[in-house]
Amino acid sequence: MLNPTKLASKNFLSSLDISVEELFHILEIAKNFKNQDFTIELKNKVLGLIFDKSSTRTRVSFQVAMSRLGGTTIDLNPTTSQIGRGEPIRDTARVLSRYCDVLAIRTFKQSDLEEYAKWSSKPVINALTDLEHPCQALADFMTIKEEFIDFENVVLTFIGDGNNVANSLILFGALLGIEVRIACPKGYEPNNLLINRALKIYKNKSLLKITNDPVTAVQGANVLYTDVWSSMGEENQQQEKDKDFLGFTIDKNLVLNADKDAIILHCLPAYRDKEITDEVIESKKSRIFEQAENRMHAQQALLSCLLL
Ligand code: CP
Ligand code: NVA
Repeated sequence: MLNPTKLASKNFLSSLDISVEELFHILEIAKNFKNQDFTIELKNKVLGLIFDKSSTRTRVSFQVAMSRLGGTTIDLNPTTSQIGRGEPIRDTARVLSRYCDVLAIRTFKQSDLEEYAKWSSKPVINALTDLEHPCQALADFMTIKEEFIDFENVVLTFIGDGNNVANSLILFGALLGIEVRIACPKGYEPNNLLINRALKIYKNKSLLKITNDPVTAVQGANVLYTDVWSSMGEENQQQEKDKDFLGFTIDKNLVLNADKDAIILHCLPAYRDKEITDEVIESKKSRIFEQAENRMHAQQALLSCLLL
């Protein structure tokens, strides 16, 4: 039986905080949890959740994962704690890490998350920032692996905003050496710094493709993935982005250009008939709800490997 082993990094702030071997290990442990092949006891361990943005999946999947491990969770609502009053992160992090064994934080700036990690004596997990969503990417690659067994020859096409979700996919894609195509309107390309980090890892740099043409990007692809056009914190840009992203909807016609056995992913929540049609979400090719379920298994595995 495979037992969780401790990760080399104390924190999980970025997809690149783990090695490719550790990624495979987490996915394997997650599969075992899903198949109920074993139980791990993290009795008396406490996970603190600090969410500066709304969440359904991340919050609840962390809570249930922790409870399945025999531990508990404290949901630290920023508006009813002193966090919302503006207490410095370095003070909050030092105090909370004396109470909790691990913190999962959803916030805006990656630098704020890094500040928490710097001052926390316990592991800090990125539960989404404007830059990355690595916990989502764990579940995404778990879902892809369930379908295609290994990642060899898998082509992953992301259509939409080159934002947090796309960024974390690119970084895991680089670790795994798989072909990742990002199709976004001009001006919405992924962060340059992050692309450069990915290119440094890719042995074959041509496997990362950034394009403004969704139709060529989906040709023969095995996985089609999208996310909302306007992310949390961008509500005032919604009208403008809705116009800029016209033509970037995953609909039946676009899916016809992909491989015939292609699957469809979306991190959710979705705006149906904007970035993806209702018909495609509900189609046989959709693995969107398996993907959402896998958040829980993947995070249970992550917590096990961080809390050993
Ligand atoms: N996919 C995701 O992170 O969903 P929530 O915003 O509901 O947590
Ligand atoms: N890009 C989206 C992902 C939501 C899970 C956002 O940041 O709002």
